Amino acid sequence: MYTLTDAESLRAQLAHWRAQGERIAFVPTMGNLHEGHLQLVRRARQTGGRVVVSIFVNPTQFAPGEDYDTYPRTLERDSRLLSAENTDALFAPDVSVIYPKGGEAAGHVDVPAVGHGLEDDFRPGFFTGVVRVMVRLFDLVQPDYTVFGEKDYQQLAVVRAMVENSEWPTEIIGVPTVREADGLAMSSRNQYLTEEERERAPVLHQTLEYVAEQITSGAPRFKLLETDAMKQLKDSGFVPDYVSIRHADTLQTVVEGERRCVVLAAAHLGRARLIDNVIV
Ligand code: PAJ
Repeated sequence: MYTLTDAESLRAQLAHWRAQGERIAFVPTMGNLHEGHLQLVRRARQTGGRVVVSIFVNPTQFAPGEDYDTYPRTLERDSRLLSAENTDALFAPDVSVIYPKGGEAAGHVDVPAVGHGLEDDFRPGFFTGVVRVMVRLFDLVQPDYTVFGEKDYQQLAVVRAMVENSEWPTEIIGVPTVREADGLAMSSRNQYLTEEERERAPVLHQTLEYVAEQITSGAPRFKLLETDAMKQLKDSGFVPDYVSIRHADTLQTVVEGERRCVVLAAAHLGRARLIDNVIV
């Protein structure tokens, strides 16, 4: 596995592979890798292309007061895990490589409509930061395939829309959420949970499953279901930001009877903010 930290050596390595007619499959991450990330790497490998994984904790997607400074950085361990998955290249740049002129100086970015509401209501500026870093990463890597997790459902929708609206000829591949045995979606932020909170954490997924079952069995009142789910979470000690039933593709609010739904939620549990979703 090549480990590359600057734009020039990355471009040179990619050019070398392209000259041999090889395709590039790209997995962008912020590191502190777990089984969820590794599943994306395996999916990337299935494309038959050279697998490039980036590890970059992107400052522009963190709001002041969020966990940018304390976000777990475990590059050596991550590097060993990626190597064991036969990753071809790890791109691990410094902030100055991604934002040579500073984060905001990189110019205006447009967030597609699916990036409004939900996460954006509680983390304003988050998708601006994600789009900003993805513009730069797509420009550097120019991947044929790019792999994202469904765990960050709205982020996947934003990137899909961003690619559809632009000239990047990359195929976006979504991978189902990888969960712990008790249903908790794997996340680097799960380690912020105390032992006692960790035991309660699967309630988030259980609540979403409950809502999904109600929809499948024809529950008529979506608003009521959302309120009910919020209450269940509060009763289990969560501080929920939202539970929302949306159209699975457009993320628009849906009218009763819509069957192509996704149920999305975000909730604080202690120091951690957990997000999850279930496709109906
Ligand atoms: P990060 O949180 O490190 O996640 C990197 C990728 O792994 C994302 O596509 C995410 O959806 C996926 N992922 C995380 N947990 C997963 C799980 N349990 N199952 C399946 N996939 C999972 O998302 C980001 O980084 C950043 O916003 C990024 C896209 C890299 C831009 O900075």
